[in-house]
Amino acid sequence: MKTLILYKSIHHKNTEKIAKAIADVLKADIYDIDKVNPEIIKNYDIIGFGSGIYFGKHHKSLFRFLDKISKTNKKAFIFSTAGFPFLKSMFHKELRDKLKNKGFEIVGEFCCKGYHTYGIFKLFGGLNKNHPNEEDIKKAKEFAKNILKN
Ligand SMILES: Cc1cc2nc3c(=O)[nH]c(=O)nc-3n(C[C@H](O)[C@H](O)[C@H](O)COP(=O)(O)O)c2cc1C
Repeated sequence: MKTLILYKSIHHKNTEKIAKAIADVLKADIYDIDKVNPEIIKNYDIIGFGSGIYFGKHHKSLFRFLDKISKTNKKAFIFSTAGFPFLKSMFHKELRDKLKNKGFEIVGEFCCKGYHTYGIFKLFGGLNKNHPNEEDIKKAKEFAKNILKN
């Protein structure tokens, strides 16, 4: 299965760490989503989409990218890092719905803590300092191994 990972990581490069860990396991090609032409997905079987969570959802670059592609029947997985990862299901909803509308089959979702210094959190030295940490990376790799079983 040829795998592509497309991500956006703007705050502390937290999601980039996760994207690279997943790409390692899946032997995936990996790009900043703003640096590729949407046509690229034609060359792959599974596409992973990820970013930090900003104001309750993924980065707008992911949605802009998906607006430019036509309907597909490929597989996709979703990943993110967030201040409050236990809200994964809610944070992923908008991207999940968008992918499903485009015809993707969602084969997995992953979210872990990411260092968060935006807004009020800056005053306290930030939330989730040092995340993603080794344990988060390990979990991301386990997630990727499960994707391979799909
Ligand atoms: C502008 C902004 C808005 C954010 N909004 C949320 C949010 O709604 N929920 C949350 O859990 N974390 C939120 N965060 C924290 C980020 O999701 C977290 O720091 C993430 O790991 C950033 O990923 P990145 O370093 O890959 O950009 C926000 C961070 C920023 C900078």
